[in-house]
Amino acid sequence: MSERTIADLVQPHISKLKAYTPGDQPEGSEWIKLNTNENPYPPSPKVSEAIRELDANSLRLYPDPKSLQLREAIAAHHSLEPNQVIIGNGSDDILNLLIRAFGGVGGTVGFSFPSYSLYPVLIGIGDGVTEIVDFQREMYLPVEQVRNSSAGLFLLTSPNAPTGVGFKNEKIEEVLKVHSGLFVVDEAYADFADETAIALLKKYPRLVITRTFSKSYSLAGIRVGYALAAPEAIDFLDRVRDSYNVSRLSQVAALAALEDQTYFQRVVAQVKETRMLFQAELKEKGWFVYPSQANFLFLEPKNSKGESNEDVATSLFDYLYSEKILVRYFGSHVLTSSFLRITLGTESEMKVLSKAINSWQTIV
Ligand SMILES: Cc1ncc(COP(=O)(O)O)c(C=O)c1O
Repeated sequence: MSERTIADLVQPHISKLKAYTPGDQPEGSEWIKLNTNENPYPPSPKVSEAIRELDANSLRLYPDPKSLQLREAIAAHHSLEPNQVIIGNGSDDILNLLIRAFGGVGGTVGFSFPSYSLYPVLIGIGDGVTEIVDFQREMYLPVEQVRNSSAGLFLLTSPNAPTGVGFKNEKIEEVLKVHSGLFVVDEAYADFADETAIALLKKYPRLVITRTFSKSYSLAGIRVGYALAAPEAIDFLDRVRDSYNVSRLSQVAALAALEDQTYFQRVVAQVKETRMLFQAELKEKGWFVYPSQANFLFLEPKNSKGESNEDVATSLFDYLYSEKILVRYFGSHVLTSSFLRITLGTESEMKVLSKAINSWQTIV
């Protein structure tokens, strides 16, 4: 019998696969963590209350497979019907379901670049074909190219990550009118934006919107996301979903967070206020920063000679790292290599950040 190695046994497309690289999650509170777009504020106190009240004995039992109560609450929140909602283990799970159901082996899935770097990994896992539509530096939505895409599934991040730029419904509609595939608007950051594409669902049955509790509801650790779409699309997604994809604890926590809209709005307003102040501060330095509709800024630092490039960006990254401030650098591409993405923190974290940036400026 011939000896086969594990590498011989793995599927060929998986053997070539490069895993997604998430931002660092260092242990310990000495870090100021501005690298993964988490919310700097705690979730609503109603979340801890709901978790405390959960009877641990109920954890013997599997959760509601369809997360029905949460579907109903989310549907009501967006003035939709429960059959237009599906809940996932984070919106990553939802993206995975979309690619599983509408991409799959040999299926073409399109997305714009730069955007969420998980997309190509999920397409790779499904052995699909990737179609990339490049942004230009202005970050306008390349309407013509997206309209002409032959992909059966197209993913648009709006507000975009890592730039923070939001696309107007008017532009999204120009695409939807012509695009023949399923069109996903990944709205992970839409609660921080001026506009959402939800109203377009009525008019465009091939539109899917994905959302998350990880950012605006401060619940990245609980892993709940959802999609809003036509009942027919939701039905297909349900068919490929793991039966118990959202834990009891997660369903309870997300529901409590959703119900406390007063707290939610206060937190979102605070993050937006911080965004405005930090953006103004960077502009005063003469640094380029994309107008952000999200909870982070994508900024292009300058050294004392007024230069912006990869070396300048990595120099600031390293300096902040040495000060125990974690931000995100996406090198390797001309559109991202001279930039840093910085998540908006608490007021006191932002003060420490500003001070560190000012000190760095004195040495470069
Ligand atoms: C654009 C985008 N979509 C989706 C996600 C995933 O969010 P979740 O925590 O719901 O899986 C992220 C997370 O950073 C993101 O940036």
